[in-house]
Amino acid sequence: MTIGFIGAGKVGFSMGKYFTEHDICVSGYYSRNPESSKEAAAFTKTKYYQKLEDIIKESDTLFLTVPDGSIRKVYSEIIQWDIEGKALVHCSGALSSSVFSGISLKGAYGYSIHPICAVSDKLTGSQDLSKAYFTIEGDEKYLSVFLDLFHGLGNPMEVIAPEEKVKYHGAAVFASNLVVGLYETALRMLRDCGLSEAFSDQALLPLFLGNAENIGAQGVTRALTGPVERADAGTVEKHLQVLTGEEREIYRLLSQQLVKIAERKNPDRDYDDLKHILQNS
Ligand SMILES: NC(=O)c1ccc[n+]([C@@H]2O[C@H](COP(=O)([O-])OP(=O)(O)OC[C@H]3O[C@@H](n4cnc5c(N)ncnc54)[C@H](OP(=O)(O)O)[C@@H]3O)[C@@H](O)[C@H]2O)c1
Repeated sequence: MTIGFIGAGKVGFSMGKYFTEHDICVSGYYSRNPESSKEAAAFTKTKYYQKLEDIIKESDTLFLTVPDGSIRKVYSEIIQWDIEGKALVHCSGALSSSVFSGISLKGAYGYSIHPICAVSDKLTGSQDLSKAYFTIEGDEKYLSVFLDLFHGLGNPMEVIAPEEKVKYHGAAVFASNLVVGLYETALRMLRDCGLSEAFSDQALLPLFLGNAENIGAQGVTRALTGPVERADAGTVEKHLQVLTGEEREIYRLLSQQLVKIAERKNPDRDYDDLKHILQNS
């Protein structure tokens, strides 16, 4: 397999580095800005291409590591050339391989391969990828080849149905981006309580990190603590009395989710009062 990257950004840099570090053949990079492909090629000790045609010719697998909104456009440029027998891959979480419409007419095969991790730095991203779980979907032709490739690298990888990709990506947003929103809400509430910004910024961190570690080590059910888990309806009622607007609604809806976890954890505990308060407040 010889892999070429179209799009020298965070994932292109990181995936290329990750592959070359493990002796997987990477032809090189083509990108919109030649400076980006030059830099990526130097970083991975591969070649930089000035013409799209040339990287297509010299690669049997093309990773389109461009933003989601550009995949269709880049694909429409690629299919101007002979791509018979080649695999085309994009790394979007929300899009499926169906974005490569009509690819079988060109005798090529389309895939989406998504690392379930945040790659925020192109120079250190290969370390994030080495710990990432991946999903894949696409044509049967090379599916097992890609599964073997990533399993060989030590990355757990599962096949996902193309029609589930949007929901799957939504799940990743719940576990990462939405937590950022919750954290920001908590910081704002501490500042509203009169605590300094510097103190607030640091104060919640041990709680937040400890919680994340507990979820990782023990799973959500065992990790759950707090007033909902204790069926402490009085405290939850007091919280609801001081919260307003969106904060109150977020608290109420998420607490209803926590009751479900708490009932699993403590099947003999009575959560009826709490459920009543959360549903009717
Ligand atoms: N970053 C993450 O955490 C992450 C995680 C999982 C999956 N992904 C997926 O990975 C893909 C790439 O994301 P990214 O974060 O690496 O984006 P990025 O850092 O913005 O990089 C995308 C690169 O694509 C190049 N590009 C844009 N339009 C192009 C075109 N028409 N032709 C050729 N090159 C073009 C740009 O290069 P120039 O510098 O040449 O303009 C840019 O550097 C997306 O599908 C994204 O959903 C990202």
